[in-house]
Amino acid sequence: MAIKDVVTKVWIEEGCIVCDACETTAPDVFDVTEDSCLIRPDAMNSAFTKARTDSIHDAAEECPVDVIKFDTVSEEVPDEVAAPVAAVPAAPVGAGKDESKPAAAAKSPDSVAKAAPVAHAAASMAGAPDPSISALLRAATTRGGNAGIERRGDDLSSMEGDTKNLAPEARQERVFDAARKAKKDADSSRRSFSGGLALTVGWGSFGIGTAVSAGPAFVRFLMPNVLEEPDPRVRVGKIQKYLEMETGGVNEDYKPQGIWMIREEERIAALNIICTHLGCIPNWLPNDRKFKCPCHGSGYRPDGVNFEGPTPRPLERFRVMVVDGLVIVDKSKKFQAELGQWDMPGSFLAV
Ligand code: FES
Repeated sequence: MAIKDVVTKVWIEEGCIVCDACETTAPDVFDVTEDSCLIRPDAMNSAFTKARTDSIHDAAEECPVDVIKFDTVSEEVPDEVAAPVAAVPAAPVGAGKDESKPAAAAKSPDSVAKAAPVAHAAASMAGAPDPSISALLRAATTRGGNAGIERRGDDLSSMEGDTKNLAPEARQERVFDAARKAKKDADSSRRSFSGGLALTVGWGSFGIGTAVSAGPAFVRFLMPNVLEEPDPRVRVGKIQKYLEMETGGVNEDYKPQGIWMIREEERIAALNIICTHLGCIPNWLPNDRKFKCPCHGSGYRPDGVNFEGPTPRPLERFRVMVVDGLVIVDKSKKFQAELGQWDMPGSFLAV
């Protein structure tokens, strides 16, 4: 047996350009629609994502706008599962970008199989790109021709007509150019954001210089706090308050901090308010005795267990503890029912 970091959760952040690359690499995990990319319901399950760790890694590395994120845990797996997939000589796409980073196209057998024909054609082109460009190319050529690339902007919309009569290599090259341009556009929007940030920091520095004369307390206020992570621990009041709640009760006082406090017959627990489907914030409907997500209709019982809608798993729970009669919720540690963690120490307070 060997230790491997396996993926327990995958999600998409804002900024997806619906390029199809991730669905091409991991079709059972990602569902790219006309205007967004979704995680398929099956892939909301950690057992499912663990088995697809390699393809999720590949998709994240290939994503041209870096919006695919995932959590991992270290687990014992059979040696053959942990062993890295051997690089394939016929896949030079990505070569020259970063020698310490293996080309994504060579990481999993699945992606190698898809990448090989395109990589072979691309090998003859000068300036082989990084994995994200190769993934865009692969998506454009294996999933409906140029359709995926076309979606990225009007400036690419003429490609299909123009390329129909081209020789295969020339056509590949046109798609290749379009993919490179899409990546460049994404990079330049990031640079504009960085430029704006630099301007803000510049004016901020001027302000700091002026404010130094206001005294050390002001400087202390300005400098270190900017870089500090928020404390994940939240004080949610005295234990007595929760002891007095009715069984099945939900306390929403700390929803702005991302927490619902709940009372079960013999337990007090802290629910994470994030919907386990795609991350919206459900509402507590006291008359219906359920949490209801406004995005796609997932419903959860007062204890956080899902019972309707597309979400495949219950809400998560945070670690809870009592210090000097005060209940503290530690948001840095989460417990998932589907992993059998709701009975672990720290996931509840016994009453
Ligand atoms: Fe889809 Fe909540 S985000 S149901």
